[in-house]
Amino acid sequence: MGSVIPPEVIEEIKSRSDIVEVIGSFVQLKRAGSAGYKGLCPFHQEKTPSFHVDGSRQMFHCFGCGKGGDVVRFIMDKESLTFVDALHMLASRAGVVIPEYAGSGDREAARARGSQRERLLALNEAMAAFFSENLRRDPRSPAALYLRGRGLSIEDAMRFRIGAAPEGWTGGLEFARSRGFTDAEMLSAGLARQKEDSGRCYDQFRGRLTFAIANEHGRICGFSARSLEAKPADGGKYINTPETPVFHKGSLLYGLAAARKAIAECGHAILCEGQMDTIAFHRAGVDCAVAPLGTAFTPEQAKILRRYTSRLLLAFDSDGAGRKAVERAAEILLPLSMDVRVIAIPGGKDPDELFSTGGAEAVRGLAGTARPLISVLVSRLQGKFDLKTPVGRGEAAAWIAGFLKRVENRVELEGYAAEAAEALSVSVEAIYSELAGQRRLDRRREGFTPETRREPVPALRTEAPGVYPAALLSLLELAVNSSDAARRIAELVDPGELASKDPVTEALNTVLAAAVNGEFDEGIGEVRDALTERPVPEISRILIEHTPCPDMERAVSDSVAEFRRIRARDKKKELMTKLRNASSVEEKMALLKAISQLA
Ligand code: UTP
Ligand code: MN
Repeated sequence: MGSVIPPEVIEEIKSRSDIVEVIGSFVQLKRAGSAGYKGLCPFHQEKTPSFHVDGSRQMFHCFGCGKGGDVVRFIMDKESLTFVDALHMLASRAGVVIPEYAGSGDREAARARGSQRERLLALNEAMAAFFSENLRRDPRSPAALYLRGRGLSIEDAMRFRIGAAPEGWTGGLEFARSRGFTDAEMLSAGLARQKEDSGRCYDQFRGRLTFAIANEHGRICGFSARSLEAKPADGGKYINTPETPVFHKGSLLYGLAAARKAIAECGHAILCEGQMDTIAFHRAGVDCAVAPLGTAFTPEQAKILRRYTSRLLLAFDSDGAGRKAVERAAEILLPLSMDVRVIAIPGGKDPDELFSTGGAEAVRGLAGTARPLISVLVSRLQGKFDLKTPVGRGEAAAWIAGFLKRVENRVELEGYAAEAAEALSVSVEAIYSELAGQRRLDRRREGFTPETRREPVPALRTEAPGVYPAALLSLLELAVNSSDAARRIAELVDPGELASKDPVTEALNTVLAAAVNGEFDEGIGEVRDALTERPVPEISRILIEHTPCPDMERAVSDSVAEFRRIRARDKKKELMTKLRNASSVEEKMALLKAISQLA
């Protein structure tokens, strides 16, 4: 596939993009086997994992829907990108610089898009450095004093990429220009605004403390800027980057890039309310904390977290707004089968205040205090409803059942139903009957509400089911799992017998030739790479299965014999058809002779 990216750069991008790591940032993967992982397929709806990722072969394959290939193919399918765009995405993630290259048409446009994103990311990165330097330069500036007042040192500021936007109107713009960025780029990055009447540009962030926001891959894509005043004259307490090509507030989580490793290690994530709380957790050594950005927690953000873990601890303020936030988050998280727990911060504080008063130790202790979400909701019934009246109890039962119906584990459900019954002074049966009623209603709605309808499983990418003879697939399987087997097959089978142009036969030829030349591993790599352009479920399945073969010699000879039998049968069918249509006696005689030789 000719591309504008030089082959050696493609190689470098691939070699720096470990498939387990890359896919791991989209799909929650669990170990399965020595180099293998599995998880829920991102390409079709499923409840039990059939999506496999193999580190040793750098391959993925879904046994459910048949999608498979290498890391580039994954990005192409997952993000609906062309080959070149997928490479750009992987390159930016892996920090590989793609040299400028002459191209034409579509590719040029794709590169322009890729490079516009790159420009905006580079600009954000440069501005983050500028803001930080601006903060560091003057320890007596209002921003530096404010920061110290909040208990953050200059080292903390540098670690969390905090900075200060200059007071004037154009300090940021001037810096950007000095680095070769245009005012148009500042506007697209949301770092500048334009006056409607004069068309003049001015800085979006002025005289505020800036928090650089990184995307999932650790690239700075925007800012959240806090006013230094209690009652800011210029907008809200925090002003954020507006939506830009690289900054989508609803699908970003503050701290996620720094939290990814910790989430994988400790098996849960902590969701808190804002930047300062996230920073407090990270300063206390609790690196798994993240926060939404000024918006309520969105389903998109929930799905992103779900890729890393199914266990989430909520660390919201214990005030009214915080309680409401827990309920909203519950509505989003429970349908995703997330295990949600709620942290109660002593004294009605937020994690940031707790850090200031109780120190790192107090913040570290928070995770241990988390209680199951439903129990927390049950304990709120008392305050939310008038439980002295039957009507109030009925309302309370309906409300709690709305959450209970999302609990899939039967044992857990029984525990919570008992808690709810006790809180309401009703029988457990009453709770179950409310649950059953709601479920009946939901089922009736399910027929026509779009969000509950299942996505259809995409069809396999084969031309037709079973197009490849089983014996041919066995030969490929034997060949890719042992270079000895591959060489043995190459001895037994005549090249003429493998002349078909189908992808499986071509893959087999590649592996056989490579094994004979002592380049077996390269051959496997070549077969895998061919799948980027042309995915073949049969081949990705075989590559990922690593089926061991106890009696190689016997399996090879059986498969070769079976392969020949099938070929002869097909050949015979073809000759019989010709025979039926033959007109001359000579032709018929020749065909009969050929058929008798086959038998
Ligand atoms: P909070 O008001 O709880 O802020 O808003 P905070 O994190 O405790 O900040 P400090 O301690 O007062 O400095 C929570 C989050 O909501 C967003 C910010 O992301 C903030 O961290 N927010 C808040 C805005 O985007 N705009 C606002 O005007 C206020
Ligand atoms: Mn706060």
